[in-house]
Amino acid sequence: MATFQGDLPDLTQTAAPVGENLASVYIETYGCQMNVYDSQAINGLLEGAGYNIVQHDLEADVILLNTCSIRDLAEHKVISRVGELRHRRTKTEMPQPVIGVCGCMAERMGKDLRKGKRRVDLVVGVDNYDTLPGLISKLTAKTIPQHAHERRTVTGHRSDAHYVAPPSLYPINNSHLVTIHKGCDYKCTYCIVPYTRGPQSEKSPEAIIEEISGIVAGGGREVTLLGQNVTAYNWQQNMDFAKLVEEVAEIDGLERIRFLTGHPTDMHPHLMDTIGRLEKVCPWLHVPVQSGSDRVLRRMKRLYTSGQYLEMVDYARQAIPNVTFSTDFIVGFPGETEQDFQDTLEVTRKVKYDQAFCFKYSERPGVPAAKLNDDVPDVEKKRRLAELLAVQEETWNAVADTCVGQVWPGVVEGQAKHQSKPGQDDGQKGPFWRLRTSNNRKIIVSADELKIGAELKARINGYKNTSFLGELQD
Ligand code: 5AD
Ligand code: SF4
Repeated sequence: MATFQGDLPDLTQTAAPVGENLASVYIETYGCQMNVYDSQAINGLLEGAGYNIVQHDLEADVILLNTCSIRDLAEHKVISRVGELRHRRTKTEMPQPVIGVCGCMAERMGKDLRKGKRRVDLVVGVDNYDTLPGLISKLTAKTIPQHAHERRTVTGHRSDAHYVAPPSLYPINNSHLVTIHKGCDYKCTYCIVPYTRGPQSEKSPEAIIEEISGIVAGGGREVTLLGQNVTAYNWQQNMDFAKLVEEVAEIDGLERIRFLTGHPTDMHPHLMDTIGRLEKVCPWLHVPVQSGSDRVLRRMKRLYTSGQYLEMVDYARQAIPNVTFSTDFIVGFPGETEQDFQDTLEVTRKVKYDQAFCFKYSERPGVPAAKLNDDVPDVEKKRRLAELLAVQEETWNAVADTCVGQVWPGVVEGQAKHQSKPGQDDGQKGPFWRLRTSNNRKIIVSADELKIGAELKARINGYKNTSFLGELQD
């Protein structure tokens, strides 16, 4: 049931307006793919109510920032962005927009966002986006009701609130995002997500299938199933993620299924066998390990040891042809010693990740780890981060070297920003295009015109960071 923070209900329950001359809304997204999807859903809700969605902040009457709370820095960025957005209007002598904060920061900070120099006009948390059309209507009306400031914060978790992005809206890299559940029950000790996004709650399999069928009917061929822990999907105790994926794979016309993020403890042999067996499921596992030290993993409440993680990786390599891995790491967790950190480097070398997203530990208010002493000095966190990135790069380069000369199929995603400098790379001239292999490797090729979504073959000639440089084959 809904629990609301703030005075309800009249403003939030205003019927969604439908009409002409409604406000223009600009939506800016921070953070993870779930937020990208949520922004698409907000976009759909507002467009459905007759609002005009614009692509530039200066064109908008209303600016919504869909925010992330995962680290301190992510929140700081948004607060300073509010100041910047206000300043841009003062500088250009334009009227101030209504600024709203949505997403995790709205949930974590609630009414506090309505205070101080950088205060915003509207705060709407992750489960209350259906109130946006009504709220915006009131706030952009010529006469603002008295005391309206008390009713502009709508937060609190609702298990029924599963938003759906319209299928026509922007696939990301040719892949349509589909959130299959929300929230998280793991409660890793460092993480704010279980508090900002609430308990895990599943979208029904019927709703997921319907959503994906709509995407395919609209011409989409690839989906990325999203969740804080997609692999923990469990609908009414009788449909787990493996079963769901089997059902999704049955959808005619759908060609590829990707998913993010997996939790190592949910990567059961049965699931890996299913992924390996189903041709439509792409062989790429994003399974964050966070640390290679058992001591740190225990204190993080990750529920596995580094040995168990490595066994999972070995099993996946047997069960899933051409599988690749990516991960997240946190360095400088409270109490992390040099030896713990060396254990992390060891895991990096052993797994040979395609990509590692590495972060310095950032204390989040109210989470269990906030009670621990954040005792690794920032300079040391920075040093460990740099060393981890260097080891990852070295390990990756060794893997990438072995790929040169191979010919891979890949799907055209779009144009690439890549630039060849004379005397460097493969010396090819643009325009450049980006292909993605089913195991999530990017290949940059040069061609005059390619059709997005087409499957082509490329010979790998080299690589730059995590992108391969290739040449199209007939
Ligand atoms: N500090 C640093 N990184 C964090 N992450 C989650 N919480 C924190 C935190 N408090 C990282 C984890 C997670 C990724 C999305 O963000 O590595 O997998
Ligand atoms: Fe955060 Fe852990 Fe849940 Fe991932 S599994 S969202 S890291 S609590």
